[in-house]
Amino acid sequence: MSSNLLTIAPADLFVRYSLDSARLGERPMVERRLADLRGSFADAAAYEAALARGNPILYQVSAVEPASGDGQLHYGLGMLQPGRIGDEYYLTKGHYHSHRPAAELYVGLRGEGAMLLEDEASGESRLVPLLPNSAVYVPGHTAHRTVNTGTEPLVYLGIYPSNAGHDYAAIAEKNFRHLVVARDGRPTLIPRPAAQL
Ligand SMILES: [Fe+2]
Repeated sequence: MSSNLLTIAPADLFVRYSLDSARLGERPMVERRLADLRGSFADAAAYEAALARGNPILYQVSAVEPASGDGQLHYGLGMLQPGRIGDEYYLTKGHYHSHRPAAELYVGLRGEGAMLLEDEASGESRLVPLLPNSAVYVPGHTAHRTVNTGTEPLVYLGIYPSNAGHDYAAIAEKNFRHLVVARDGRPTLIPRPAAQL
């Protein structure tokens, strides 16, 4: 379906967002809690111990999807809380795009974090800072996960082609090959334990 200025709802032309609540206009917010992240963290004992203490919200995401079809854009606002499971920083599940060639632009708005990027074909990884006043380009064919390495909520926008789609299953089946952990208080990329690959 083609779209133009006249077919887009006014509420999709102009959207206010909040860096405090992670709300994107009146859009519904999806919550991901610790229990939803089972299998994402490397230290299973630390995960179970944390879950026994409570089931906090780790992150919230809302999206604006004004139109679909060739050339259209969607975007989302994410807020990821600070914290760690063992040495591993709080993270999002991460995904590939269902339409693998689709790239994405992340814009850091608040807090201090990083994006873990992994090339699907080679398994090569990059850890790229995600900070206010900066943007991260996520190429196609790249798994991407957000990590909060700071002490306050990490807030960011992600802007992607409307046909990108989210493939979470590929990550659930085969987790990222690297972890982002605190070493001497600094974010460090280390290989995932071989038994978990
Ligand atoms: Fe994405």
